[in-house]
Amino acid sequence: MKLSLPADSRLLTPEFIFGVATSSFQIEGDRAGRLESIWDRFCATPGKIRDGSNGDIACDHINRWADDVALIDSLAMDAFRLSLSWPRLMDEQGRLREQGVAFYRQLLSALKARGIKTFVTLYHWDLPQYLEERGGWVNRGTAYQFRHYADLVSQALGELVDSYATLNEPFCSAFLGYEAGIHAPGHQSQQMGRQAAHHLLLAHGLAMPVLRQNAPHASHGIVLNFTPCYANTPADQAATQWADEYFNQWYIKPLFDRSYPACLHSLPGSAQPVVEAGDFDIIAAPLDFLGVNFYTRQVYRSDANAPYGHQLVAQPDAPHTDIGWEIYAPALTGLLIDLHQRYPLPPVYITENGAAMADQLVDGQVNDLDRLDYYQQHLLAVDSAVRAGVDVRGYFAWSLMDNFEWAEGYLKRFGIVYVDYRTQQRIVKASGLALRDLSASRRR
Ligand code: FCB
Repeated sequence: MKLSLPADSRLLTPEFIFGVATSSFQIEGDRAGRLESIWDRFCATPGKIRDGSNGDIACDHINRWADDVALIDSLAMDAFRLSLSWPRLMDEQGRLREQGVAFYRQLLSALKARGIKTFVTLYHWDLPQYLEERGGWVNRGTAYQFRHYADLVSQALGELVDSYATLNEPFCSAFLGYEAGIHAPGHQSQQMGRQAAHHLLLAHGLAMPVLRQNAPHASHGIVLNFTPCYANTPADQAATQWADEYFNQWYIKPLFDRSYPACLHSLPGSAQPVVEAGDFDIIAAPLDFLGVNFYTRQVYRSDANAPYGHQLVAQPDAPHTDIGWEIYAPALTGLLIDLHQRYPLPPVYITENGAAMADQLVDGQVNDLDRLDYYQQHLLAVDSAVRAGVDVRGYFAWSLMDNFEWAEGYLKRFGIVYVDYRTQQRIVKASGLALRDLSASRRR
């Protein structure tokens, strides 16, 4: 099966960027080559990871990076989105670790030598554990540590990076990590979650001018995830809007409007983040691009007795992926148009989109037609948003290959390339072949 788009689609123009995405902790392995991160600690805590696994080896990318670069090239990808491991790059005294720098220089150079654009994320959740011991993202000082890390690293990597994203999905770092407790470091406190979110955004804003100065030819931005919120009845509308503000707008509104959404005022005073004078001016640093990660939507109904005043409404008749997320591509079009109408957006990249599916390796092949169909629907959804006037410049599949899926361990496969974890063999799935063909067809 093939992926197809209307012949006049902007996604088919040579300027449009097709890429694949990964993150450091999920693929690199080589636990010995870096300091401990909050995810190492979390994995070592019984009961936190569904299959009891960790990131010690993962996809062994640290040893197989050259083959992985060749793989990305063989998939006709224009760009590779990767993240840098802070605990690989920095020591506890705030100095660069030369071995870590050498690894990324080598990797980025190999990508550039093949003409593959390098989209680098500075923070994809693997905070050094020593910073967590000083309070992690609840400690305002961590934002300044991040600026320091961004400064040294962007100097060290020079011109090897085409695009810097400060953070990946601060919602997940703050809410899942400090408020819901299902991600590292596993705290369960609304106050901590809201304060962590503020300090993450502050870290982003502090780093932006530094990146701009050190890498003047690169473009600089942030990657946010969105799970659009839907209500079935007017009576559920207010609760749904509150959820949208709390889970989605909280992370984007300050970037443009220099304030948090109105739901802030419904929170107990103790849960409202401490914001210092001038913080919003730092946070609202101009962006060259916005990265949008999209997987699914959520339907809400009002329930005054529930925590946060709402309940999720399951959609049992709708299709779902293997991780239980509803497949609903129109939400991606709707999201992009909505963001475009609300905010003065810079160019947008879909920095993650993809699906976990129950892949079967049969006779050395993975015929993942379900994932392929997901990509088909979502590429069309992006095309529709572009036609409606949203300036989308690129699309990254999550993920290049199956990898460590956080609290799910290795149980959920998101790759367009299958990884046999016993042998570390990579096998391109049908979806990967179809994305390759789509991307290659567009280059001619
Ligand atoms: C996103 C993360 C990414 C991956 C996908 C499935 O929230 O950014 O690392 O785990 O979900």
